[in-house]
Amino acid sequence: MASITLDHLGKAYTPEVAVIRDLCLTIRDGEFMVFVGPSGCGKSTVLRMVAGLETVTSGRLLIGERVVNDVLPKDRDIAMVFQTYALYPHMTVYDNIAFGLQIRGMPEAEIRQRVRQAADTLGLDAFIDRKPKALSGGQRQRVALGRAIVRNPSVFLFDEPLSNLDAELRVHMRAELAKLQRRLKTTTVYVTHDQVEAMTMGHRICVLRPAGSDPAQGNLTQVGTPMEVYDTPANLFTAGFMGTPKMNLLAARLSDSGDEVLLHEVRLPVAPAFRDAARQMKGRDVVLGLRPEHIGAEREVDWASDTSITGTVEILEPLGHEVIVHFEVHGASVSARLRAHGALPDPGDPITLKVRVEAMHLFDPKTEKRLGL
Ligand SMILES: Nc1ncnc2c1ncn2[C@@H]1O[C@H](COP(=O)(O)OP(=O)(O)OP(=O)(O)O)[C@@H](O)[C@H]1O
Ligand SMILES: [Mg+2]
Repeated sequence: MASITLDHLGKAYTPEVAVIRDLCLTIRDGEFMVFVGPSGCGKSTVLRMVAGLETVTSGRLLIGERVVNDVLPKDRDIAMVFQTYALYPHMTVYDNIAFGLQIRGMPEAEIRQRVRQAADTLGLDAFIDRKPKALSGGQRQRVALGRAIVRNPSVFLFDEPLSNLDAELRVHMRAELAKLQRRLKTTTVYVTHDQVEAMTMGHRICVLRPAGSDPAQGNLTQVGTPMEVYDTPANLFTAGFMGTPKMNLLAARLSDSGDEVLLHEVRLPVAPAFRDAARQMKGRDVVLGLRPEHIGAEREVDWASDTSITGTVEILEPLGHEVIVHFEVHGASVSARLRAHGALPDPGDPITLKVRVEAMHLFDPKTEKRLGL
């Protein structure tokens, strides 16, 4: 078991372009940390640096107390599972799982015991003598996991290991993997661009974005528990990235007193959490963030609100248990959640919905930061 420390970590594949810039983060011993961010932001690059598959351009990388910048991958005591499992097709499940231990020269009796235990943990007993081609995608994926857990490493590194599975299996495996990690308590870094995986699996989430052309802008936007990141996004990037459907981010202005947010003719009282910060920015432009679940039909919502917002229905997206309605408010598109039952509006209809004012988020459009930070 070990912590992982990224100390001003940097990576440039070519001298001109920093892919990872000044990344500072500590992953605690036993923690399940998820790296999430859009395609190309550098998630795999960071993971591959931790694994030793990619050199570190600047900064230090520590596993436990040890600086590992120049330590070979095989000496880092880590096990990595990739999106493609790369099982040996001519070997049985047993041999695929045992192989890494055999090449390390572990005694056969111990190998047998470890493979049996891993197969048991992962529900692979029934398939132990099969070859990979006789397995489903989910079973193959479990073999790849088995290969990692028999090593009993200090650190697990996962790079989108579930993305090749169908939706149902992915949901199942993400719960299984999270349970397994909680039981083994092995420090884990898990990379995904799927924010549902991020929300459901990690003790903490690290939200990354591409390092900008501005040398002051690094990759890290926010680190916190899933609920911290969801409920109090630190900046516009995190606010827009976490949550499906996305948070509505609307250009608005603070009143001259700073006590109200003005969104065209709608005046929303500033939520208590932002009162002090909003007074300091009175009269200025802000970005108002409202999650779709905080806008709804009066007869459906379970919060009291005196504030409503009116627009014109653009399109409905029925999801079965609910309907996402997109409506236009003075040129801005806003989405809200409605229950699927009852009469639904049609495109072109006017619509008036209640806003849960206490759940608003306010951001400074210049710094892109949450007000008060
Ligand atoms: N070997 C390489 N040489 C040059 N550039 C690279 C190399 N590997 C990755 N990059 C670039 O570095 C950036 C980060 O790539 P990386 O694979 O880390 O992104 P990612 O966040 O894992 O994306 P995805 O979600 O698509 O897997 C990308 O712009 C990519 O084009
Ligand atoms: Mg990647």
